[in-house]
Amino acid sequence: MPKESPKIPERGVIIRLLNNMPENYSGVKEHCLLCELAAEEIAAQLKEKGVKISPEFVSRAALAHDAFKQFGEKGNECFLAKDHFTKKGFPEFAKALVTNALQSPDFENQARLVELSLEQKIVTYSDDICRGIPIRDKNQQIIGWRNDIFPLDEAWKSIEDRIKRGEFKREGSIKQEFELVRIIEKELIGKGLDIKKLIRKVKEKNLQP
Ligand SMILES: [Fe+2]
Repeated sequence: MPKESPKIPERGVIIRLLNNMPENYSGVKEHCLLCELAAEEIAAQLKEKGVKISPEFVSRAALAHDAFKQFGEKGNECFLAKDHFTKKGFPEFAKALVTNALQSPDFENQARLVELSLEQKIVTYSDDICRGIPIRDKNQQIIGWRNDIFPLDEAWKSIEDRIKRGEFKREGSIKQEFELVRIIEKELIGKGLDIKKLIRKVKEKNLQP
């Protein structure tokens, strides 16, 4: 956590960005709202165990991480969001929403995880467990998406399935990312994260109108 409480954009500003996405990106908005809930719950659990963390800061970053998805290519959308919020005067906040850092070849060495802040790790972890699972017709064509929160292994299985079907192009880097996220998960558990409680709480809150 940065020393002074860093400035964060208002929630409504980010919601407006998400609402401005093209109609076929509604699943991305659902994903961002789920990531917000997950990041908030993770940070709240850690805070309860005495970790210095702001649930508001991390949940806002999780909400914003894919706000520029429609302009992104090959996973660079979080860097577009980072540039946007840096220019708007939220540099610390902007750093926390870079979730795709782990896909970079620079990150093949797990020792480099120390370069990520705890905030960035929580947002990255939330991004990886809040997934869209394809809904398929009888010909296995994707006809929609079901966004939900999953245990990490299950989230990974759905990606693996899409890789096998040739629907997912970033196999190497995504695999690397999941290995690293597993290490992040262990760290979060070590700091007091209860995964079953996390999944239950996010599902409950997600059902609320
Ligand atoms: Fe995402």
